[in-house]
Amino acid sequence: MKFFVDTADTNEIRDLAATGLLDGVTTNPSLIHKSGRKFLEVVEEICGIVDGPVSAEVVALDHETMMKEAAVLRKIADNVCIKVPLTIDGLKTCKALTGEGVMVNVTLCFSANQALLAAKAGATFISPFVGRHDDNGFDGMKLIEDIRLIYDNYAFATEILVASVRHPIHVLESAKIGADVMTAPPSVIKALFNHVLTEKGIAGFLADWEKTGQSVL
Ligand code: G3P
Repeated sequence: MKFFVDTADTNEIRDLAATGLLDGVTTNPSLIHKSGRKFLEVVEEICGIVDGPVSAEVVALDHETMMKEAAVLRKIADNVCIKVPLTIDGLKTCKALTGEGVMVNVTLCFSANQALLAAKAGATFISPFVGRHDDNGFDGMKLIEDIRLIYDNYAFATEILVASVRHPIHVLESAKIGADVMTAPPSVIKALFNHVLTEKGIAGFLADWEKTGQSVL
């Protein structure tokens, strides 16, 4: 499963990229707002840090303006992935852009039928929002299972990009289901490293090592 980080904070992106575990980045208008930076500048900087897909979202609601915004965004770098909402105009834009060989991430997916539409429109990625699904009394991970089943039934190439990930269990379940990608905030990715027994084990080994009076270097 590929790991994308869901942030526009370039310091966090650099930090995670240094682990070698980062396959891409997703942003959205709220994350750009949180960064306090200019949209095009921050996307350009992120594309210089990460080789994989960097999702940059259009903000227009009509197909024609979405295409114009996409034209600006795709000029930034070859690894820009245009993010469009799951609407009729968004999917028209998806079909047109993927037809030109541009990566498209279809976002704000909350049903398996929506995911089916995105795949038929040739989406590179579909982004079901598991956390927001859970928040509203639905089962986010069941949604991922359903999309996996449907995509496998028809051998769709669209990659399932699990979004709105809130905690390590979402990551674990995504991997068990066979999602292609998950995108999570830096804090969730960092939490994946943690285990109380790992910390306890290191402390125990170091305490015994000190007693040997030796040094490796
Ligand atoms: O980038 C889309 C998605 O990951 C947003 O997550 O936490 O705002 O629901 P969240």
